[in-house]
Amino acid sequence: MSVLDKLVVFGLPLVPKPIVGLFSRRYIAGERLEDAVRVIRDLNSRGMCATFDLLGEHSNMKQKAIDATDTYIQILDTIDRESLDSNVSLKPTQLGLGIDQDFCLDNIRRIVERAKELNNFVRIDMEDHPYTTATLEMHKRLGEEFNNVGVVIQAYLRRTADDLVDLMETGANLRLCKGIYVEPRAISFRDFDIVRRNFVTLMERLLKNGNYLGIATHDEYLVYEATRIIQDLNLPKDRYEFQMLLGVDEPLRGIILSGGHKLRVYVTYGKDWYPYSTRRLKENPKMAGYVFKSIFGLDKK
Ligand code: FDA
Repeated sequence: MSVLDKLVVFGLPLVPKPIVGLFSRRYIAGERLEDAVRVIRDLNSRGMCATFDLLGEHSNMKQKAIDATDTYIQILDTIDRESLDSNVSLKPTQLGLGIDQDFCLDNIRRIVERAKELNNFVRIDMEDHPYTTATLEMHKRLGEEFNNVGVVIQAYLRRTADDLVDLMETGANLRLCKGIYVEPRAISFRDFDIVRRNFVTLMERLLKNGNYLGIATHDEYLVYEATRIIQDLNLPKDRYEFQMLLGVDEPLRGIILSGGHKLRVYVTYGKDWYPYSTRRLKENPKMAGYVFKSIFGLDKK
């Protein structure tokens, strides 16, 4: 952790909530569904599609997980009513994975079923390693019933290359990212260059195999590698998409769009923004550096 990151992380509890809110505004659409609708409508008007993410992780009571499930169904209905170009991304622990896997599977199934009725798609985010196997299992079960559900894989996990075998065989719709949680070295690559190399290797295997791939990164090196592979394979534009988080490196968005590629922006909203923002910053202090740089205009323009 750099001195700057340490300062931001340990000084965070001293920062008044409205000021943290000011910093988070760039990354979080707002507290209400209408806030996310407004942001997504604007992205759509500028040629980008989106994915809704309802803030919140680790529901420890069944009712909380059921409420989150109902909200996701409401989001899908809103997307349909407002004719937005967006799907949804969800976190299994918010839908009860920490309580009971079958309960969580039933909740996700309700959401995927509604999405299917509305001709929409559900992406299951990948959380930290205690949930990896269960998340892949739930995705597999749902994939046997529906064709509108996909999952996320993380390039920093040592296991991902093996997980790919099954995901390639079933032709799964995947999002590939580096991975955001701080994981033990025994199970994850820590070296920045190894994570990048693994990302490229996995991406190349998946694109060659014909899996639909969401390439989720703001790392221009990886964007370069992706476009190189896409060109080499002469891949049609409907076999992949780039994905970025709201508020991060908007100039890179422009570069991707001007290359004629599809770009999806991950739009987070919800009431839990304060605990979410502070927990995330503590969990991964590198984020603190990004936020600090963006506040003071030191990030790439
Ligand atoms: P890297 O970390 O090297 O970042 C490249 C540059 O992007 C940085 O130098 C910085 O300027 C900027 N940047 C990156 N992240 C930033 C941030 N949060 N705020 C401000 N600036 C930032 N992870 C996971 O474990 N499970 C998941 O389901 C998902 N889902 C997901 C969806 C989408 C659409 C994206 C883009 C990312 C995820 N992630 C995720 C997060 C992902 O694993 C990874 O942690 C981040 O994307 C950062 O990695 P990069 O590839 O962007 O490279």
